[in-house]
Amino acid sequence: MFVTITFIRWLHLVGAAALVGGMVLQLFVVSPLLSGIDPALRGKLAKKASDYYLPVFWVSLALLIITGAFVIFDRLVSLENMVFPYKNSYETFWLLKLSFVGAIGLLGILIARLSNEIRGASKEQMAVTEDVTKISLLENRKHRLRHVVSLLRNLNVVLGIFVLLWAAVLQNIFGLLILR
Ligand code: HEM
Repeated sequence: MFVTITFIRWLHLVGAAALVGGMVLQLFVVSPLLSGIDPALRGKLAKKASDYYLPVFWVSLALLIITGAFVIFDRLVSLENMVFPYKNSYETFWLLKLSFVGAIGLLGILIARLSNEIRGASKEQMAVTEDVTKISLLENRKHRLRHVVSLLRNLNVVLGIFVLLWAAVLQNIFGLLILR
C-alpha cells in the first residue's frame, strides 16, 4: 500500500507540474511570442501551438482527477473514526480545491471554444477578401475575442496556483490530524 500510494502521489505531482507549468508557459512565453509575429503567420502558429498544448492540458487534468481520487480515498480511510475539529476543515478545503479544479476545466473548455471562434473569423476574413467593412468587423471581433481569451488564461493560471496553495494547506491539516 505504501509503495502504491507513493507512486500515485508521484503521478499526482507530475500532473500538477505539467498542468500549472504548461499554463504558465502558454501565458508568459507562447502568447507574448505569438503577439509579436506577422498576423499572416500568427493564426497558423497559434493553431499549431494549441494542437501541441491542449493534449498536455487535458491529459494532465485527467491524471490529476484520477490520482486525486485515489489520494483522497486513502486520506479519508486514514481519517475514518477520527472526530477532531480539524477534520471538517480538511473536508472543506478539499471541496474548495475540487471546485477550483472544476473551474479550471470549465475555463479550459471556454478558452478552446473562443480560440476556435477566432480561427473561424480568420477563415471568414480570407473568404470575403473584397468586402472591406466585413473584414474590419471580423478583425474587431477577433481583437475582442483575443482579449477575453487572454483574460481567461490569466484567470486559469491564478486558479492553478491557488490549487497548489490549497494542496499545501490540505497537507498541513492532514499532518496535524495524524500527529494529534
Ligand atoms: C489543478 C489540479 C490539481 C493540482 C495542481 C493538484 C496539486 C496537488 C499537489 C501539488 C499535491 C501535493 C502532493 C503530495 O504532497 O503528495 C496535492 C495533493 C492532493 N490532491 Fe491534488 N491537485 C489537483 C487536483 C486534484 C483533484 C482533482 C483531486 C481529487 C479528486 C485532488 C486531491 C488531492 C488530495 C486528496 C491530496 C492530498 C492532500 C493531503 O496531503 O492531505 N487533487 N495536489
